[in-house]
Amino acid sequence: MKKGLKAFSLIMAALLTLTMGAALAEDTLTMGTNAEFPPFEFVDGDAVVGVDAEIAAEIAKDLGLKLVIENMAFDSVIPALVSGQIDIGVAAMTVKPERLNSVDFSNTYYNARQACIVRKDGKVTDEETLKGTAIGVQNGTTGDYAAEGYSETVERYGKALDAVLELAGGKLDAVIVDAPVAQNIIDALNNDNLILLDNIEFEDEFYAVAVAKGKPELVESINKTIDRITEDGTLDAILLKYFPVADDAE
Ligand code: ARG
Repeated sequence: MKKGLKAFSLIMAALLTLTMGAALAEDTLTMGTNAEFPPFEFVDGDAVVGVDAEIAAEIAKDLGLKLVIENMAFDSVIPALVSGQIDIGVAAMTVKPERLNSVDFSNTYYNARQACIVRKDGKVTDEETLKGTAIGVQNGTTGDYAAEGYSETVERYGKALDAVLELAGGKLDAVIVDAPVAQNIIDALNNDNLILLDNIEFEDEFYAVAVAKGKPELVESINKTIDRITEDGTLDAILLKYFPVADDAE
């Protein structure tokens, strides 16, 4: 009897350890992003912060999981989802029909457009003068695709910031990147010679969370979180935290 009890508790202990081990492996939600896209994602010290990191934290919280963030090249995010290296891609990623061939998207959480940064003293002033010039972009982004429509000379960088630095230094004629990020970079560089063209009409783009195909429950819970934070004001608070409120109407 005693022996039996001992064996029983040993088995129970082993089972407990096993389930705990499994739970440990499964109690994380891994987000892949490219933290070169302020204010959506950027590195602060050794943490990845920004609008998307905070949205992902809300998603993880609702799922009862611990958020882990992996920082990678933007064009690695979709492959990392497909291979199962990460659970969610939260990278200011625009929903594009081509991307829907490889991943699924949640409901959208932000509406952006591309913007064209030029030098005030440069030759590009509008859509016509943009044509055929040297345009810098972040590799694999919608800015990259937009630039292809204007020129055959598209220079691709790992970070939009590097493209803007090349523009400032005169090596490029323009940079096309998501408008909120364009403004953020210009503000950070504090370079009066860099301006945004306001006479090119880019299409609306909508950001969403990307998930590997065949995970409808995960998409469903992400949508629930997006709905919740939209309704309870959390999303607005997050956006307000990272977007400076315009203090003039220059
Ligand atoms: N919205 C653009 C796209 O989907 C650019 C996203 C770049 N994101 C990043 N984290 N670097 O292509």
